[in-house]
Amino acid sequence: MSSSSSIGICTMKPSCRILISYKGSSIFGVSPHRTNPSVARNLSKSQFKSIYCRSYSSSQILGHKGSVGPSRRAFCVSDQGWSQYGSISSICCVHNLKGSKRGILVIPRIASDTRNQSTSVGAHVNEKGFERIYVQGGLNVKPLVIERIETGLGVVEEREDRVEDDNLSVHTESFTGLNERKDERELSEIEKEAWKLLRSAVVNYCGAPVGTVAANDPADKQPLNYDQVFIRDFIPSALAFLLKGEGEIVKNFLLHTLQLQSWEKTVDCHSPGQGLMPASFKVRSVPLDGSDGAFEEVLDPDFGESAIGRVAPVDSGLWWIILLRAYGKLTGDYSLQERVDVQTGMRLILNLCLSDGFDMFPSLLVTDGSCMIDRRMGIHGHPLEIQALFFSALRCSREMLIVNDGTKKLAAAINNRLSALSFHIREYYWVDMSKINEIYRYKTEEYSTNAINKFNIYPDQIPSWLMDWIPETGGYLIGNLQPAHMDFRFFTLGNLWAIVSSLGTQQQNEGILSLIEKKWDDLVGHMPMKICYPALESEEWRIITGSDPKNTPLFFFCSPWSYHNGGSWPTLLWQFTLACIKMGKPDLARRAVDLAEERISADQWPEYYDTRSGRFIGKQARLFQTWTIAGYLTSKMLLEKPEMASQLFWEEDYELLEMCVCALNKSGRKKCSRSSSRS
Ligand code: GLC
Repeated sequence: MSSSSSIGICTMKPSCRILISYKGSSIFGVSPHRTNPSVARNLSKSQFKSIYCRSYSSSQILGHKGSVGPSRRAFCVSDQGWSQYGSISSICCVHNLKGSKRGILVIPRIASDTRNQSTSVGAHVNEKGFERIYVQGGLNVKPLVIERIETGLGVVEEREDRVEDDNLSVHTESFTGLNERKDERELSEIEKEAWKLLRSAVVNYCGAPVGTVAANDPADKQPLNYDQVFIRDFIPSALAFLLKGEGEIVKNFLLHTLQLQSWEKTVDCHSPGQGLMPASFKVRSVPLDGSDGAFEEVLDPDFGESAIGRVAPVDSGLWWIILLRAYGKLTGDYSLQERVDVQTGMRLILNLCLSDGFDMFPSLLVTDGSCMIDRRMGIHGHPLEIQALFFSALRCSREMLIVNDGTKKLAAAINNRLSALSFHIREYYWVDMSKINEIYRYKTEEYSTNAINKFNIYPDQIPSWLMDWIPETGGYLIGNLQPAHMDFRFFTLGNLWAIVSSLGTQQQNEGILSLIEKKWDDLVGHMPMKICYPALESEEWRIITGSDPKNTPLFFFCSPWSYHNGGSWPTLLWQFTLACIKMGKPDLARRAVDLAEERISADQWPEYYDTRSGRFIGKQARLFQTWTIAGYLTSKMLLEKPEMASQLFWEEDYELLEMCVCALNKSGRKKCSRSSSRS
């Protein structure tokens, strides 16, 4: 869309106006501290909208045309013109009936920017200065009042006054270098098709790309929520675009999802933590109240309140942080992660993850279905996937967090958690032949701090399949660990991400790849890769999944190995590729990519495959699944540009190891089993 074709007015989401007040600032001529919060909260959607929309006229808008910065695409109201409304942070697009865009306005602060505003110029604003945030809700959203934001670690958010004319617009200059990179070779027909499909999955908001839909199957009459932009699904799309030198969509995605983070989310009468990122969002067009035939685009997030089973999207925030780092690494544009609003968003996620609870373990305690496996599959508690993403997000934050007086406690908490978490996972999640034998001979009911069998694991828990399956060499990290419970299933994403982030030791990481190689037929089969191995069977399936027919069990009258229950998910190819490149085994990744290439396009890019070896297109699999397409493209590009791949993984951090050794020594432990990895 050309900039000249747009004019703009108004809001982030008509159904969820955001009204944010600060001491001393005035909104619509009403001083917020004189406004009774309940009045603000009780304004109806239309009352609110009418106040809001009356506060500027089209002539005002057009009158400020000249103030649009070079990187803006719209007629915007100048910052100066808006300073009196400085506490409003919202965006919308207005279209006429025919759908041609009449305009957009990008008001120079996205929602989370409001967290960073101050009425005092250039100063940090303390807790008193930052009074309240009121969110006037519509639809699912109810008013939000935030007295202040605390980090949960005794750190109160400080706010800076920072005027950024084009917070939401993309600095295309940053990508100049990347765009100049030319593809060295002619793309294959499959790659060309994949790029075409990926581009057709792009979702625009206010004329700018902000993400990709989960699936884009024209024949699908019941897309459910597959027509939404899922945070986790967008990661391979983002990487494909970044590796191709196209950063705009990724930057927009990061900033818009950041906006959504500060919305209040409710399931019934309960609100989860403020830092929660949505599982997905949709761009909707809604008629503009009181206007003739005009409509506006709004972002409508799902924080789990609509998701099947009301699952909490714990992984979204972790992926968001991981992508933020990747964006900086692959574009060289570190200014995004340095922005105050982005730093604040990151801190909110971290606060949510690092807040004190009842936990005895450093691993993150979550409910079932809180990640890629977003249905009940017995992965509540401390599932490996979440731990690996948590660890990665902490490593990213360790690099990106700007440390100052306000964040030094958080920085220390990140370091402590990193070393405790890696110790915990390396020590207690790892299994190989000798560890299983050790568990097999465990004594139980040990009481004391010196217990060997700390979690009171009963040896009978070792499943019979594992005894035969575990190779002489190599091993893996188990799926979950809780008191008296080890989930011995192999979960692919968690294991791959443990390699990528160096959550495992070098030896363990090598062991995981070695096991995948040895168990190729089980874990890769006809289509990379199994989401988990093996599938749950009969009674276990009934109890663990709650008799979920989509997660079809290994049952004599069912076609077994389906969907999350041992199905094969081609999107995992990019994570496998990254892990192989890191471990110096690109040929192994090539083997998997070649295998996928044999049929993935002919099969129309399915979401997942069924059967033990992944031979059939999944019973209910979507076709033209975007992360299947993007995962394939990302794998191809990572293999072609290993130097770019190396920006996306981490080596061992010896400083963290040192901290762990010291902590264990202090607590009287004799040895740290990881000290060997130093060599
Ligand atoms: C399924 C997957 C989930 C994915 C979503 C959209 O629910 O389990 O991981 O994000 O589909 O593709």
